Amino acid sequence: MAATPLSGHGLLQGKTGIIFGALNPQSLAWYIAEAVHREGGRFVLTNAPVAQRLGEVDALSEKTGAPLIWADATSTDDLDRLFAEATAHFGGGIDFIVHSIGMGMNVRKNRPYEDLNPDWFLKTLDISAASLHRTITQGLKAGALNDGGSIVTLSFIGAQRTFSKYSEMGDAKALLESIVRSYGYRLAKRGIRINSVSQSPTRTSAGSGIRGFDLLYTFAETMAPLGNADSDSCADYVVSLLSDYTRMVTMQNLFHDGGFSTMGVTDELLELLGEGLLKGQDSSALQELFGDKK
Ligand SMILES: NC(=O)c1ccc[n+]([C@@H]2O[C@H](COP(=O)([O-])OP(=O)(O)OC[C@H]3O[C@@H](n4cnc5c(N)ncnc54)[C@H](O)[C@@H]3O)[C@@H](O)[C@H]2O)c1
Repeated sequence: MAATPLSGHGLLQGKTGIIFGALNPQSLAWYIAEAVHREGGRFVLTNAPVAQRLGEVDALSEKTGAPLIWADATSTDDLDRLFAEATAHFGGGIDFIVHSIGMGMNVRKNRPYEDLNPDWFLKTLDISAASLHRTITQGLKAGALNDGGSIVTLSFIGAQRTFSKYSEMGDAKALLESIVRSYGYRLAKRGIRINSVSQSPTRTSAGSGIRGFDLLYTFAETMAPLGNADSDSCADYVVSLLSDYTRMVTMQNLFHDGGFSTMGVTDELLELLGEGLLKGQDSSALQELFGDKK
């Protein structure tokens, strides 16, 4: 079900932050940046230097008046420079961080879970999970994080349940959510909150890297009583977590998935199974996913 776009309510007026991960207009971070802008928040946009050549983030920077600072979130030096430039820009510390970063190296290159390239696997964990730890650590060392701030990262239910084609990313998300809990305890001493938003499958560059993504999307859409949560509603939810309205919420993994995570099965899905799979009717999508085995 499509969300009705909201008009701004100044929920983030006076707040400053850093938004990681807007690559193109499909990116969740792109939607989040637009929603934060609408709510009066000021921010710096950042992404890996390799994203520069895609040349799309400039348009978002122009639209939202946010400076663009290139930084690889796996590089301590880059993060130090990012925090130094961001605090210089705002003339002080920041109130929020949106970490919307993910990359499954083996998933991208179709290496099965039973045969992961170990170096790529470590890189996947570094980019998709440890980068959150490194970002917070360098932010604290730089004295760049204001008391009472809020940090949000994006996760997927593959952290708790096995989704066959999600492969190494399930492990990365499990680590990411663990970092949310471990750092959450420590950040709370300064009133800084941290949560992960476990988002429905969403059509983005990262999403489309998952083999069989369209079927996974349709499965989740069929299972979720409200349907898959779209990017606009995800951005609005993140805004609420950056705002003072959720000031006592921390160390949580919050499902933003139209109810998917609590369902067992829906009538709609049973009907589809009855009509198709159980009668052995093949579809080209299934063939693409399972090859000769079906
Ligand atoms: N699309 C989905 O179905 C879905 C569902 C749940 C959660 N998520 C999560 O949402 C987040 C955002 O993904 P998205 O779907 O918007 O896709 P996306 O591809 O638009 O965003 C991923 C971002 O990570 C950035 N990135 C990769 N390596 C980096 C590095 N070394 N340093 C800094 N940035 C780096 C990319 O440049 C890109 O901007 C990811 O954590 C993803 O796992 C996505």
